[in-house]
Amino acid sequence: MTDDVSSSGYWRQLYAEESAGWDLDGPCPVLEEFADSPRAPQTGLVAFPGCGQAHDVYAWRARGYDAIGFDFAVDLPHVEKLDVFDLGRVYPDRFDVIVEYTCFCAIDPVRRGAYVEALLAALKPGGLVVALLFPMGEYVEGPPFGVLESEIEAIWGTVFDLVSVETPVSSVQPRLGRERLVLATKPAPAARGPR
Ligand SMILES: C[S@@+](CC[C@H](N)C(=O)[O-])C[C@H]1O[C@@H](n2cnc3c(N)ncnc32)[C@H](O)[C@@H]1O
Repeated sequence: MTDDVSSSGYWRQLYAEESAGWDLDGPCPVLEEFADSPRAPQTGLVAFPGCGQAHDVYAWRARGYDAIGFDFAVDLPHVEKLDVFDLGRVYPDRFDVIVEYTCFCAIDPVRRGAYVEALLAALKPGGLVVALLFPMGEYVEGPPFGVLESEIEAIWGTVFDLVSVETPVSSVQPRLGRERLVLATKPAPAARGPR
């Protein structure tokens, strides 16, 4: 088996071996709660990069969102096989909302800046990114590669305008306290530049 987390073969093999230990077997409660809250836009095109078995895509579609997943290792309805690093090139300024869950921790940590830039490019100006970051903590052998608290500002905050950072209380029990819900918006083009 390849150890290259940047290859689709690595992930396809984990699914084939039924070693997808991250899979919640259903939608993420924090993201469902958000979708049901007044903070969520009521309609719009919503992207789920690295969506895996697409439980969250289907949960948001059931709520009326035009939701689509992107994952290079699965074949499922409403999921496009695409490398998430190509999202901004293929779909420039397209999505109203992008929901990140456990893709940021799955990619090689040296590519995190490039990943967030790809999300930025795919989001409409003023669009919302909903990033549920997990697992918070030091880098260890991954995936999952831990997410440092400082990366919220250093990576997400330098690319997007941060709206809020919260520790959800509705996380599944093993992830309670180890997730951060980051809401951020894409700055208008003129507002971008050196910061
Ligand atoms: C840890 S899993 C998380 C899946 C899903 N978000 C969940 O919570 O169940 C990471 C997913 O990202 C996908 N992935 C990783 N790197 C990718 C890339 N460069 N392009 C597309 N998908 C990628 C993998 O195939 C895998 O399905």
